[in-house]
Amino acid sequence: MDFLKPRYTPMNRRRRIYEGKAKVLYEGPEPGTLIQHFKDDATAFNAKKHEVIDGKGVLNNRISEFLFQHLNDIGVPTHFIRRLNMREQLIREVEIIPLEVVVRNVAAGSLATRLGLEEGTQLPRSIIEFYYKNDQLNDPMVSEEHITAFGWATPQEIDDIMALAIRVNDFLSGLFLGVGIRLVDFKMETGRLWEGDMMRIVVADEISPDSCRLWDIKSQDKLDKDRFRKDLGGLIEAYTEVARRLGILAENEKVQTGGPRLVQ
Ligand code: TMP
Repeated sequence: MDFLKPRYTPMNRRRRIYEGKAKVLYEGPEPGTLIQHFKDDATAFNAKKHEVIDGKGVLNNRISEFLFQHLNDIGVPTHFIRRLNMREQLIREVEIIPLEVVVRNVAAGSLATRLGLEEGTQLPRSIIEFYYKNDQLNDPMVSEEHITAFGWATPQEIDDIMALAIRVNDFLSGLFLGVGIRLVDFKMETGRLWEGDMMRIVVADEISPDSCRLWDIKSQDKLDKDRFRKDLGGLIEAYTEVARRLGILAENEKVQTGGPRLVQ
């Protein structure tokens, strides 16, 4: 009766669907599911800068799980089903919309540069921007006109994406404010989830300190990937601090990054 036992497919035998800069997607255990694996790779400036930072994937897996689970709980639909282990989560397979949706509350990064604003200036209201996901073109900024003309999303889908982005921003801003962190800006991705003949847009990919700007409210310290982009050091300590404030890690807990190491 061996065939009745659940099958466990070891990771190296699972079918790899896609490998990105910081994550790998594998075929999931059931149709319509995928496994999202978080790597330790950190890249910036379209992968011109690259480093492997021990433990980053584990922290992002936990932080993204926490944020997506809360979004699911308040009725913001996401692709997230559940975390499987230290580096992996089970997600619903969606058709990724090729847009990076950036929401900004405070001037920083490319907006500060583009418009000559001082970093840290509160914006008159939250601003949503779209970038076309295309590494060869360096993810150029695009407008709704480009998105509809080239068929990346319909006007109705853009409305849905913007409504989702505002809900995610309001939820995350409040959540982080409660633990002494200012949500300066973040990037999210969306996908089409098919349920029979019905389709809805859901939040996909990850939301983690890799894809947000998070500043300590008192000290203004950066607790996000700008530590890597700007060579400030202390990235793992910063991500650990975010996890600890969110109550994901106990006071003195450190992330376990792997099993015993082979010493060569
Ligand atoms: P930017 O100021 O460099 O345009 O970044 C805006 C936000 O988007 C910031 O929170 C970092 C995030 N981001 C990504 O997640 N991936 C990217 O490739 C880029 C350029 C930014």
